[in-house]
Amino acid sequence: MRKNIAVLPGDGIGPEVTRAAVDVLQDCAQTFGHLFDFQEFPFGGIAIDKCCGNPLPPETLEGCRASDAILLGAIGGPKWESLPFGTRPEAGLLGLRKELGLYINLRPIRLRPALSSISPLRPERLQGCDFEIVRELAGDIYFGEHHISGSGKDASASDLAFYSAAEVERVARYAFDRAAGRKKHLTSVDKANVLATSTLWRDTVRALAGEYSGVNVDHQYVDNASMQIVLRPAQFDVILTGNMFGDILSDEASALAGSIGLIPSLSRGRVDQPALYEPIHGSAPFLAGKDVACPLGAILSASLMLRESFGLVAEAQWIEDAVDRVLDRGFRTADIAEPGGRAVSGSEFTKQIRDELRAAPARAGRRGA
Ligand code: IPM
Ligand code: MG
Repeated sequence: MRKNIAVLPGDGIGPEVTRAAVDVLQDCAQTFGHLFDFQEFPFGGIAIDKCCGNPLPPETLEGCRASDAILLGAIGGPKWESLPFGTRPEAGLLGLRKELGLYINLRPIRLRPALSSISPLRPERLQGCDFEIVRELAGDIYFGEHHISGSGKDASASDLAFYSAAEVERVARYAFDRAAGRKKHLTSVDKANVLATSTLWRDTVRALAGEYSGVNVDHQYVDNASMQIVLRPAQFDVILTGNMFGDILSDEASALAGSIGLIPSLSRGRVDQPALYEPIHGSAPFLAGKDVACPLGAILSASLMLRESFGLVAEAQWIEDAVDRVLDRGFRTADIAEPGGRAVSGSEFTKQIRDELRAAPARAGRRGA
């Protein structure tokens, strides 16, 4: 299989973790006889610095459009925080999502068995915990009009939350399909007791439920859902929610796994358009360049890409199995080490995974053939 992958390393720890994921993808190509062409583009703060203040330069957008899939590290940092609203690195990420029509964001909350002891929850609460968050990514308060006016005591600001029924329906269909392929349970999260957008959300999901009779649907208010995620996380199979609530709940849910550094994500729109893969962690500027960042979010984003965009299921499994074996053997980066436990550098951790991949090529190669 031949694929073009656009790589957007971004800022902070983005370049280090992206490099690890690209190395693993190269190993995969070599072992399974694929050809992955990687093309790197400036994006985020680094693009602001290098490309006339634009976090999403035209050539980056074109490169992404022309690719089969996009791998993104992370963006942002204190250096760009004081830039005017709408010109920061984050505006580049929102612009990319909008331009590529990425309205679905999938964040799998899967616990690695070897790491159960670093979860802040007691093991008995984690029994059976394995769910996915489907976050709407192209609408809501993120993309409505933002206004700031006046200054000092006279300042005021507003953000408009907007959803159309069609926008809710297209992401809900994806979530129903995911649930149908899993434990057949969909939890739709909103704030329908207060918000008009949430009332529309709930009505739209309810109307669709009739078409997916095999899927059990329940509805939770977001405040309750945020409590349920830590109280009884095993009740969830697929959580469907809007852009803002999904942003918040997915960070909360990632803590169940023990570290936000472990969670990958997929952002996609139409099936014939490139999807974007990125760890859900941020650019962690205070860790950048120290070789301490955990590369797992990025490496698992690469395996998600193989599985979801390229249909390379055996290859994805080969990577995830190697990750689990390295964790079983006790290797940890600082964020996932037991208190007082030994931590290896990010590059050493990646090396261990790559050694593990090389140690199991033939078996996996045959399986994937
Ligand atoms: C995320 C991030 C982004 C978001 C920021 C960086 C704009 O927090 O992908 O979750 O809010 O969507
Ligand atoms: Mg976020």
